[in-house]
Amino acid sequence: MEKKLRSYDWFGKSDKMGFVHRSWLRNQGYPDDYFQGKPVIGICNTWSDLTPCNGHLRDFAEIVKRGIVEAGGFPMEFPVTSLGETLMRPTTMLFRNLASMDVEETIRANPIDGVVLLTGCDKTTPSTVMGACSVDLPTIVVPGGPMLNGRFRGECVGSGSFNWLIKEKRAVENFTAEDIHEVEVGVARSQGHCMTMGTASTMACMVESLGLTLPGAAAIPAVDSRKKLMAQLSGRRIVEMVKEDLKLSKILTRQAMENSIVVNAGIGGSTNFIIHLLAIAGRIGVNLNLEDFDRIGSKIPLLVNLKPSGKYLMEDFYYAGGLPVVINELKQYLHADAITVNGKSIGENNVKPVCYNTDVISTLGQPLQPEAGIAVLKGNLCEQGAIIKPSAASKNLMKHKGRAVVFETMEDYHQRIDDPKLDIDENCVIVLKGVGPVGYPGMPEVGNVDLPDKILKKGVKDMIRISDGRMSGTAAGTVILHVSPESSIGGTLALVQNGDMIELDVENRKLHLDISEEELQKRKKAWKQPEAAASRGYVKFYIDHVQQAHLGADLDLLQGGSGSEVTRDLH
Ligand code: FES
Repeated sequence: MEKKLRSYDWFGKSDKMGFVHRSWLRNQGYPDDYFQGKPVIGICNTWSDLTPCNGHLRDFAEIVKRGIVEAGGFPMEFPVTSLGETLMRPTTMLFRNLASMDVEETIRANPIDGVVLLTGCDKTTPSTVMGACSVDLPTIVVPGGPMLNGRFRGECVGSGSFNWLIKEKRAVENFTAEDIHEVEVGVARSQGHCMTMGTASTMACMVESLGLTLPGAAAIPAVDSRKKLMAQLSGRRIVEMVKEDLKLSKILTRQAMENSIVVNAGIGGSTNFIIHLLAIAGRIGVNLNLEDFDRIGSKIPLLVNLKPSGKYLMEDFYYAGGLPVVINELKQYLHADAITVNGKSIGENNVKPVCYNTDVISTLGQPLQPEAGIAVLKGNLCEQGAIIKPSAASKNLMKHKGRAVVFETMEDYHQRIDDPKLDIDENCVIVLKGVGPVGYPGMPEVGNVDLPDKILKKGVKDMIRISDGRMSGTAAGTVILHVSPESSIGGTLALVQNGDMIELDVENRKLHLDISEEELQKRKKAWKQPEAAASRGYVKFYIDHVQQAHLGADLDLLQGGSGSEVTRDLH
């Protein structure tokens, strides 16, 4: 017997509340059969004018609806909090968990049997997936797709990458305001999200490798008609998923997450992958920890030659064959039987992809780098861990001992970094405090701070930088991130002083503050916690409940899920 639809509890009854639930919806003109056993599919839309990367998703929702109706479903689109990376202050990460609560509660409170998540910009993918996990209905993701390659004077430029180079371009290549303006109008020239292998592209690849999208969905550019095709087919498929009761928890297994870690290494994905996958695992009840990312991913070869560390952009990746080629190439490292939204395994879905450009996607036999994943560092400076992306770092700095130049806050950094009197050279280690989940608050993407002008002018492009913040997926450098515990709650990072020696040894996964235990304890005793960044509202709630980076920076009370059942009607 077919399982009773969840929406039956709203629409299937002939009592007063059944009347209320149906009657008001009649104002949209829905006929009787819409309330007689059609699966209701919620289209969770992160469209917003304030999120330019998701600006096309209103149109996409209509295409998804087409597919849902064709398959016999009842589409119901709903808006949720949308997080636009380029506009929101102080950082979208402060609101990822809030958006996930919005998604979770909206799905649970309404007569929804299955969900389509329309996502794009960095946080809109993890926030919606996290929220959906806590309800655990059949769910499919439609990633909005990257923009076409940015163009500037005959060259390709990556959105989200050039902005990190503006200071360097001005200082070293004498870029004028006109030059910069020309890049500004050419770098984001179509709908879609950043087209580097930054966080948005990483998140799209993450959901595909987890099995949450139809095969091949991640890399299709937003304006390519095949993206619309994918949206329509996803609309059809979610209706079937409801009939099969193919819930998120059946797809998001430990095996699926291990697959995703492997694929993320192979594509050279963003470090933000870690914090978001940890949070998703926490919601769906998979036991995943920071060390898993190193153990499973760090020895995986880099296959994809995309900016920020490589040469190409997402449009090239798609034309070269996209993620299916990478998945197939890495199959020896994957759990091939992990099930995906189309009911087939990831192995079955990616048997015969063809690579059309081996300069963009290389082979295991000739990888771009032999080891690409993320390294998890431990030491007295980061007792719960810190991370570095070796593929985006400078080889000569991977084992280094340098003098700390400390900035207590981001404002302190801005004030002093270009002071000609600042005692700093290229062998120093830049230490930035106060940018963790509690401290900033919200753990912004500032870890890849610019080098001082006077050092850039020498032609030096990289130095070791350490912080409790994150780094944009579009950035590169020898940048140590996610230091946990963070400085604002008294982690050792808070105790670092100018002139201390810091030792980094990536091969041995070590990050060490070279002072005596006695001195460390003395500083600990004298340390005073900075004043909390907020005393009311959501930000206060966030500060009181956010977990540290090594746990995914989710709120403690959002861990796990509450399922889809709502026992009380509105009466
Ligand atoms: Fe939205 Fe880069 S700013 S994806």
